[in-house]
Amino acid sequence: MEMVGVIGGTGLATLVDGESQERSTPYGPAAVTTGELGGRAVAFLARHGAGHTIPPHRINARANLWALADLGVRAVVSTAAVGSLRAELPTQSWAIPDQLLDRTWARADTYYDADLVRHLPFAEPFCPELRRLATEAIPDAAPRATVAVIQGPRFSTRAEAAVLRGSGADLVNMTLCPEVALAAELGMGTVTLCLVTDTDTGHVEDDPDAVTAELVFRRLAEARPRVLASLERIVSAIPDDYEPRPLIDGDAIAHVLALPVVR
Ligand code: ADE
Repeated sequence: MEMVGVIGGTGLATLVDGESQERSTPYGPAAVTTGELGGRAVAFLARHGAGHTIPPHRINARANLWALADLGVRAVVSTAAVGSLRAELPTQSWAIPDQLLDRTWARADTYYDADLVRHLPFAEPFCPELRRLATEAIPDAAPRATVAVIQGPRFSTRAEAAVLRGSGADLVNMTLCPEVALAAELGMGTVTLCLVTDTDTGHVEDDPDAVTAELVFRRLAEARPRVLASLERIVSAIPDDYEPRPLIDGDAIAHVLALPVVR
């Protein structure tokens, strides 16, 4: 395995020493910094850009994941800020989610939309092997959770949060879709370390942990040392011979990776 891909969510705009390089892709540019973490070569990408200028609905996830696959990445480890929909998942706790509930819309969410028809089996959106490694590396993280991914950029109404909870979601976020599916469409396995920053619309009346953007940023800044140490543990636990589950045929992946880049 050449490199591990790391995607930093809100609060993780930098990770490794090195110059961020703009890489051309068929979908536009992606800014990737290559460096070292936990004794491994990593390709790091800040989901919201270096200065947190890209809102969730404008992230060019197709360019980002294509750039990582083009570098030879097979395993993607990411971080995500999430709101909690359940009291059992308190703020400042962690989770390694196993399920997604996609509530986004009008995002470019597939590579197989033009001349090639493919249907990704997505019952297990995250890589079970990477999840096992991550839960061993971070034993205090909840070992499974369902993340509802909303369109944003606004947060949910109480009614929306109740619907998400009623639909089985434990956590809520704005960015894991389409990212995780796009990684799988290019043959990469993904695991995400979710940090619970808030209680979304609140778990109790006048909840001081109810979400605001300011609260999310503050909690992530506080958690940064823990996030870095945890990422390092996960990245260094991935074996050299890691192979993602083959969810899509190699010819289809090769076809997408051979598309002409846009300069
Ligand atoms: N990211 C962090 N907290 C969130 C919340 N409550 N809703 C959506 N995305 C979030």
